[in-house]
Amino acid sequence: MNIKTLKQQAGEYAAELVESGMVIGLGTGSTAIFAPRRIAQRIRGGDIRDIIAIPTSSATEADARELGIPLGTLERHPIVDLTIDGADEVDPDFNLIKGGGGAHLREKIVAQTTERLVIVVDASKLSEKLGTNWAVPVEVFPFGWHSQSGFLRDLGADVVPRQSGEVPFETDQGNIILDCDFGVIADPAALDKTLNARAGIAEHGLFIGMARDVIVASADGVRHLRKD
Ligand code: A5P
Repeated sequence: MNIKTLKQQAGEYAAELVESGMVIGLGTGSTAIFAPRRIAQRIRGGDIRDIIAIPTSSATEADARELGIPLGTLERHPIVDLTIDGADEVDPDFNLIKGGGGAHLREKIVAQTTERLVIVVDASKLSEKLGTNWAVPVEVFPFGWHSQSGFLRDLGADVVPRQSGEVPFETDQGNIILDCDFGVIADPAALDKTLNARAGIAEHGLFIGMARDVIVASADGVRHLRKD
């Protein structure tokens, strides 16, 4: 079974958790995209209605518009019932590294106001310790960004400014991404706090204690892991 099929299975499974009348967050990435596709089918089929969706990136917004999913804003809908999003790495406590697509700032803004954050992944994303397979994307403001790079190096990271072809990658906010390889992260919550305290860092890809459900697709089927 190829990886795209697994991503599709995870995304479509999560789409079944959406109920009529919900405000939903739409995540970003190659796994999360399968959820709005299925949600749009369910709306068209009359299975669910009165859905308002908050997209987490301009790319997801464009997809949702094309699919005909009604869109809203956090200003008008400050509480999100359910958000379906992907992740790059997931530990046994459902702590995450996100931001492979550079959308983690908006994703975290939506996640932190979400009642139930559902993460959709294929089994390759599971890991015993964050940092084993993925660097932490850190979004920094362009002003003085070299100083943030030095700070992150001093914390022990191997820092690589993200590129988009020949030019620096630019986020939806016009910022830069520094991919920070810390190796295996002994204490993700402590690193989260340290990064949160640094001026110049707009947001980073550690999502600590935010996810409530993880939908994992593998060749053995789809597993729904959840916290009570
Ligand atoms: C977007 O910035 C990310 O947080 C994605 O949700 C994450 O990188 C997972 O993406 P894929 O499902 O494409 O691997």
